[in-house]
Amino acid sequence: MKPSSEEEEEAVRGVGPWDECFEVAVQLALRAGQIIRKALGEEKHVSTKTSAADLVTETDHRVEDLIVSELRKRFPSHRFIAEEATASGAKCVLTPSPTWIIDPIDGTCNFVHRFPTVAVSIGFAVHQELEFGVIHHCTEERLYTGRRGQGAFCNGQRLQVSRETDLAKALVLTEIGPKRDPDTLKVFLSNMERLLHAKAHGVRVIGSSTLALCYLASGAADAYYQFGLHCWDLAAATVIIREAGGIVIDTSGGPLDLMSCRVVAAGTREMAALIAQALQTINYGRDDEK
Ligand code: IPD
Repeated sequence: MKPSSEEEEEAVRGVGPWDECFEVAVQLALRAGQIIRKALGEEKHVSTKTSAADLVTETDHRVEDLIVSELRKRFPSHRFIAEEATASGAKCVLTPSPTWIIDPIDGTCNFVHRFPTVAVSIGFAVHQELEFGVIHHCTEERLYTGRRGQGAFCNGQRLQVSRETDLAKALVLTEIGPKRDPDTLKVFLSNMERLLHAKAHGVRVIGSSTLALCYLASGAADAYYQFGLHCWDLAAATVIIREAGGIVIDTSGGPLDLMSCRVVAAGTREMAALIAQALQTINYGRDDEK
């Protein structure tokens, strides 16, 4: 693939490709974390989006505006996919151009309830390939990072996924997703039941898909699956999991499609396949067709 002019410039300056972008993403994720931590204890204006359980606050908008405007100033030719802009009608299309994929507050429902599991997620893709991910667990001040070919870290400590292959010894994470109609809930609960029948040690829902995926990358869980998560929930975490040695695939068992709103992630290929086989599909459509 032909390098972009920015990649060529960085090579001339003797720095790795996208080093500057990565550093800026880390600084912005830390700044955003400060804003979110402060706002967590304050009064919030809450609105709903696609369902009564799909929430947004003024802090989601404020953080997204900060991240996007700072990145635009630094990298005017880059493209953006950001959660709240997409909710307001912006197209969600991943082109070969350098593209930032941003979730300003992942775990907005937790944030609204002051449940302290919230994150900022910033992913970066070039030629439709994920280059790096930065996720800041705002309340615990943990910074998760992954760069393609350079490993995954949390506050400087290298991450390593679990090597478990047996579903009967697995701790599995999932998230409910925004749809709450009876048919969706029936399949959601039946998927959980199938894993419990297969004797998984436990199934957990923590309210932040990006942080659940970071726990998987850390080896604190063996698998993750979800229907209804978006590319901004998944982009940064995918690099972190892959760089920690894990697998991220589609719920069909095939390759990951970032826009399909479906994912299975696991420490091992065997575990990912077992989870994918157990699941019934919930159709959320595609991010790039909304
Ligand atoms: C949501 C959370 C939630 C998951 C949803 C996500 P948001 O992100 O990660 O746990 O179930 O699918 O969209 O709306 O808090 O950024």
